[in-house]
Amino acid sequence: MSAPPSFALHTYGCQMNVRDSDLLARRLRAAGLAEAASEDEADVVLVNSCSVREKAEEKALGKLGLLCAARRSRPGLVVGLTGCMANRLGPGVFGLVPGLSFSVGPRAAPAAIAGLVRDALAGARGRFVPDPAPGEAASEPPLPDGGVPAAPPVQSYVTILYGCNRRCSYCIVPSVRGREESRDPRAIVAEVRAETARGARDVCLLGQSVMRYGLSGFAWPENLPSPMGFTEPLPRLLELVAREVPEVLRLRFTSGHPAGVTDELVRAMREIPAVCPHLHLPMQSGSDRILRAMRRGYDAAGYLDAVRRLREGVPDIALTTDVIVGYPGETEEDFEATRRAMEAADFDNAFVFKYSPRPGTPSSLLEDDVPDAEKRRRDQVLLADQDARGQRCNDRWVGRVAEVIAEGPSLRNPARWSGRTGQNKIVVFDPAPGLRPGDLVRVRIASARPQTLYGDPLP
Ligand code: SAH
Ligand code: SF4
Ligand code: F3S
Repeated sequence: MSAPPSFALHTYGCQMNVRDSDLLARRLRAAGLAEAASEDEADVVLVNSCSVREKAEEKALGKLGLLCAARRSRPGLVVGLTGCMANRLGPGVFGLVPGLSFSVGPRAAPAAIAGLVRDALAGARGRFVPDPAPGEAASEPPLPDGGVPAAPPVQSYVTILYGCNRRCSYCIVPSVRGREESRDPRAIVAEVRAETARGARDVCLLGQSVMRYGLSGFAWPENLPSPMGFTEPLPRLLELVAREVPEVLRLRFTSGHPAGVTDELVRAMREIPAVCPHLHLPMQSGSDRILRAMRRGYDAAGYLDAVRRLREGVPDIALTTDVIVGYPGETEEDFEATRRAMEAADFDNAFVFKYSPRPGTPSSLLEDDVPDAEKRRRDQVLLADQDARGQRCNDRWVGRVAEVIAEGPSLRNPARWSGRTGQNKIVVFDPAPGLRPGDLVRVRIASARPQTLYGDPLP
């Protein structure tokens, strides 16, 4: 008997892609393929791509080019594309990447992947499967049994809201991920349960603008009441998942938007024990002028008001953010406003991105007039600010005891272990004998760096 064909996945982009890759891996395992020991030995390599910035697309195209060139020495190699670039490039991708076996949209992929791979292994080339059109969006086929990876992660993701209805001027996501569609809470509970059954303890619910969960084209099922008295869909969902799946020690949701920071949501974060005191709340800019141009739907004061309500309502909350530097027309004054707003928000962590014009977005019609060197400078200034701020935020933990879910050996020093707090802070500590991933450990924090806490476990 010959060995089953093997596959490898290469993932770019956001957590939604991480989750989709994991799902595709499970489907391929269920279809009889085996995970390759390395990409170099795989019979099938799937690239799960991101379109959000030009750099991300260049990386994926470079990768695909290399893989297709490797065909010269590996003639049967199947190379497939999925993720946001599959939608953005459409069938045109076969002209850009000669030799590509197939391309499939991220929503279509779960149902189509096994057949596409089987046909490609038999020699089929050039098949494109687009995502379903709005309205006909098929719900995901149920998860296949089996296909559990050797070391399932402690932290796991579950998509609750596909697509995005906001139209931020710079963003390609709405055009590659389609209209918003909220998943049924029972399907979400089932998936969270399946995640915990294979070892997940920290589950993050995903949506591009996650607080819009259940706000369009959706009715909360009548037979799912809220004992805590919530009326809004996201607080109800958090309550439901926490109640139905007690194995979830931690529940998060991302990404947030100030408009979604309602009193109910703040109460849900405070009163549901599994829901973490942590929120990723992209700010993008601190300049009212730029925020208006970006069509973000808030000004700096509105953003900071959401921050204030979160800090008042959720003790010890950690806030993280995304910021774009060098949006068209961003002046030194706008940039300084961003610096001040970041300081006022007191972010625990921040991701800074250099503006990248994306085809078809409203802002791509504006001149990309901040020179790259200046974008780089602003990026570095914000990162240096954040380093100091992150150090200050983390110093507040020194001497306190943090509840940490152990994940495994630390990347830097495998003799020690790392884990995460509810605030999503990484804590490095010496593992007690017999410690297993997913165990809850109490760690007294002894020292801090901008991105990491160090400490000693209590007996
Ligand atoms: N849905 C999420 C963001 C998804 S994209 C949200 O709205 O919060 C992740 C981040 O990439 C964004 O928050 C933004 O900071 C950045 N980004 C998006 N489009 C970009 C572009 N054209 N250039 C540079 N950064 C961009
Ligand atoms: Fe893009 Fe804005 Fe939607 Fe986020 S909320 S995915 S930035 S359009
Ligand atoms: Fe990228 Fe698509 Fe996510 S564009 S950020 S992979 S939704």
